[in-house]
Amino acid sequence: MARDGGGSGRGGGSGRGEGRNDGRPQDPIDQLERSHRRLREVCDALTAGARDRDLEAVAEACAFFSRQVRRHEQDEELSLFPRLEVAEARETIERLRQEHRAHEALHERLERAISGKPARDDAGAWSEIETLGADIARAYREHIELEESTLFPLARRTLAEPALGEILAEMAARRDR
Ligand SMILES: [Fe+2]
Repeated sequence: MARDGGGSGRGGGSGRGEGRNDGRPQDPIDQLERSHRRLREVCDALTAGARDRDLEAVAEACAFFSRQVRRHEQDEELSLFPRLEVAEARETIERLRQEHRAHEALHERLERAISGKPARDDAGAWSEIETLGADIARAYREHIELEESTLFPLARRTLAEPALGEILAEMAARRDR
């Protein structure tokens, strides 16, 4: 029952009428938005885990960042951004690329902070983890907002079928490795 729900909740959803909603894995921008939703959920789990001093929950979020998020960033940097290198997008793309590097630095700091498996009563370590978790959650919220308010609408306006299919195939190939 994995039918697409008819463009749920995106307010309108018009202007993409190319018959792509025929039950096949629709378009890559929808897929990227879906990973943003999962990323938001993981950020919430990280925030809660850091607050509750739940090492396992924080470690799970870290694992998600280093696997799924890394792959998502490759989808954007290697498949989407190069096809949007038009003048109006260049500055935003450069900023998004820099933010990806900043996120990686934050992930590394978080991984280091939990690498010693801090005990629940290690207030110093958990205070650092909580701060890093909050920084990461905030950084992603802003980053996702920027992508979804500028680049994704541009992609929907400007990318047509051969390019969309190629992006989708490249994303699938990253998941088959
Ligand atoms: Fe993204």
